[in-house]
Amino acid sequence: MSSSRPVLFLVSVDSGCVRADPDAQHVSVMDLGVTRGDGIFETISVCDGRAQALEAHLDRFARSARLLDLPEPDLGLYRQGILEAIEAHDDLPELYIKTVMTRGIEGTGVPTGWVYAAAAADFTRERTEGIRVVTLDRGLRHDVAQTSPWLLQGAKTLSYAINRAALREAERRDADDVIFTSSDGFVLEGPTANVILRKGDTLVTPRTDQGILPGTTQASVFEFAQAEGMKTEYAVIPVADLLSADALWLVSSVRQAVPINRLDGMERAIDVELSAQITSYLLGRRD
Ligand SMILES: Cc1ncc(COP(=O)(O)O)c(C=O)c1O
Repeated sequence: MSSSRPVLFLVSVDSGCVRADPDAQHVSVMDLGVTRGDGIFETISVCDGRAQALEAHLDRFARSARLLDLPEPDLGLYRQGILEAIEAHDDLPELYIKTVMTRGIEGTGVPTGWVYAAAAADFTRERTEGIRVVTLDRGLRHDVAQTSPWLLQGAKTLSYAINRAALREAERRDADDVIFTSSDGFVLEGPTANVILRKGDTLVTPRTDQGILPGTTQASVFEFAQAEGMKTEYAVIPVADLLSADALWLVSSVRQAVPINRLDGMERAIDVELSAQITSYLLGRRD
């Protein structure tokens, strides 16, 4: 990680987009984002000064706000904050941006918003050598988004304590990451990533109506695959298909595509060539 300082912009409808000291305190102890995890966020990769899949991230930010009955975020202000934060940050090959909007200080009804840019960690080893993954039961059926929309599965909320707990469980099981499965036996997503399987010349990912996040990186990987003449498919995927797949990846902004080299303790071959092509495509995206 670089010692480069993060750049912070506070975003509000009243004051617009205002640069602020990232080391100062800005969020109230009464803010519902802090006291209840009640808010939304996006994490966006920046490669060579360009925010990747920016409009897709902003659309998903607005979608998460709707799912939480939050006020519509002013996407123009957030876009401005993102672009200014990149401009103001040290010129590094890979940064990440976070956009956050909480329900604000209890009782005010006024959301709190901010954007910051910071240096991204170096994920070269994970991208080339792969990671060890365990499957963990999320304890919800694959149709939870239809049966129980109040559980907010598929919204990118600030309530990531469960996702972090799952990663600690992975560590206890001598693994680096997780694939959540539904209680009725289907593949869902990782705590911070989507899952892609290769079956022959087809890339398959779980259908996004199963209470999972529609991934911007997964969408880019599918664009790449289609341009290369591969087939792509959104499916309801039984857990057993993970074992029979030719290759597996977790894909997300910032870390991009990482191949899975061990699943539930069993070694797996990684697709070195396709992984390298996907990484090169993802890092080369200019919007
Ligand atoms: C739960 C979850 N699923 C999937 C993703 C991948 O989304 P994206 O590729 O847009 O970063 C993320 C990203 O943080 C996530 O938190």
